[in-house]
Amino acid sequence: MEKKPFITLEQAQRIIADVPTPFHIYDEKGIRENARLLNKAFAWNKGYKEYFAVKATPNPYILKILQEEGCGVDCSSYTELMLAEACGFSGQDIMFSSNVTPVEDMQLAARLGAYINLDDYTHVEFLERVAGIPETICCRYNPGGVFSMGNDIMDNPGEAKYGMTEQQMVDAYKKLMAKGARHFGIHAFLASNTVSNEYYPTLAGILFELAVRLKDATGAHISFINLSGGVGVDYRPEQPANDIMVIGEGVRRKFEEILVPAGMGDVAIFTELGRFMLAPYGHLVSTVLHEKHTYKDYIGLDACAANLMRPAMYGSYHHITVLGKENAPCDHKYDVTGGLCENNDKFAIDRMLPEIQIGDILVLHDTGAHGFSMGYNYNGKLRSAEVLLREDGSHKLIRRAETPEDYFATFDFAPFFKK
Ligand SMILES: Cc1ncc(COP(=O)(O)O)c(C=O)c1O
Repeated sequence: MEKKPFITLEQAQRIIADVPTPFHIYDEKGIRENARLLNKAFAWNKGYKEYFAVKATPNPYILKILQEEGCGVDCSSYTELMLAEACGFSGQDIMFSSNVTPVEDMQLAARLGAYINLDDYTHVEFLERVAGIPETICCRYNPGGVFSMGNDIMDNPGEAKYGMTEQQMVDAYKKLMAKGARHFGIHAFLASNTVSNEYYPTLAGILFELAVRLKDATGAHISFINLSGGVGVDYRPEQPANDIMVIGEGVRRKFEEILVPAGMGDVAIFTELGRFMLAPYGHLVSTVLHEKHTYKDYIGLDACAANLMRPAMYGSYHHITVLGKENAPCDHKYDVTGGLCENNDKFAIDRMLPEIQIGDILVLHDTGAHGFSMGYNYNGKLRSAEVLLREDGSHKLIRRAETPEDYFATFDFAPFFKK
């Protein structure tokens, strides 16, 4: 499908007069409409809840929008929990899915009354020691091997550090029951960025069958199954987008097929989506600083991999629109780069684009999740601002850009200024 930015050149110019590039901008209307569609797709399940993966876009304004749409939050660290608390999430609005968990993180999750999702069998005793065993507790499952759908290998859980084997799940449930736990959850994340309507239904089938076996083996009451994240987005224009209504219906069918006959029709379905909730509703907006012509033609931006790491880290595709040149022919081949002293700091390689001039404004699409949040400070680069495009077309700065003072804030300069 053709990828169109959610801002025009005129809108971008107005915003840039207020907030200089580079910045990430989020489309409130798109975020809300998508969240409503997700809730509709799973409305057949009484206890359904989406726990937005905070790691994808840890901004309180975004979390508040999702909260208003009925979502909870999935946190993985102390500061994510703090952010959730500051936004007014508490108790069962929070899922705590962590691994290699520090004591303080576990204690904060317990104090907030979050659902705690244990990554390992040994965490039963760890949790008991540092915070006590709650009445409701979740365990993360890893089936091992490779995860395939039809002939396609989707991912390699056997190589993943997360989760427990089935026997460990049984042992953990028994141990937790002996220590007072009454209600149980199951969680698994088996493949990332799946652009297929089959991922969730396939995963649901695996977890629902596991739930029946766990109930039979331990007598535990399974109260929820968390399908976690992994529903992807069509980063490339030629990819077909996921259809969340089809996905929800696919999960419902597995539910009717497996859980209902086992007398487990009261199980709540949870999701922990990040990318699907936010990626398409974010753009990285950047200005062309330089062009360079050597063995290739380069376009140099004021954004770099420190603002969007995915292309450098995974070779990920992010579609690019040159604002105001949406209808111009894509007859120039460019490498679009940032200014890091790393040759992988390229947002696009050999990309066909309209002829670009210095000062042009580029939109990098689908940066709303795992975009800003993966930012870093290499080369002393500063994190960008984040802007919200409100439903009425106005904009709001929802995080200012870092300044050199922020960059230096963790130094104590005093010893260098001897009197
Ligand atoms: C535990 C957990 N849940 C949810 C997510 C969100 O995944 P996605 O953004 O692919 O939906 C992640 C991503 O890393 C994760 O680690």
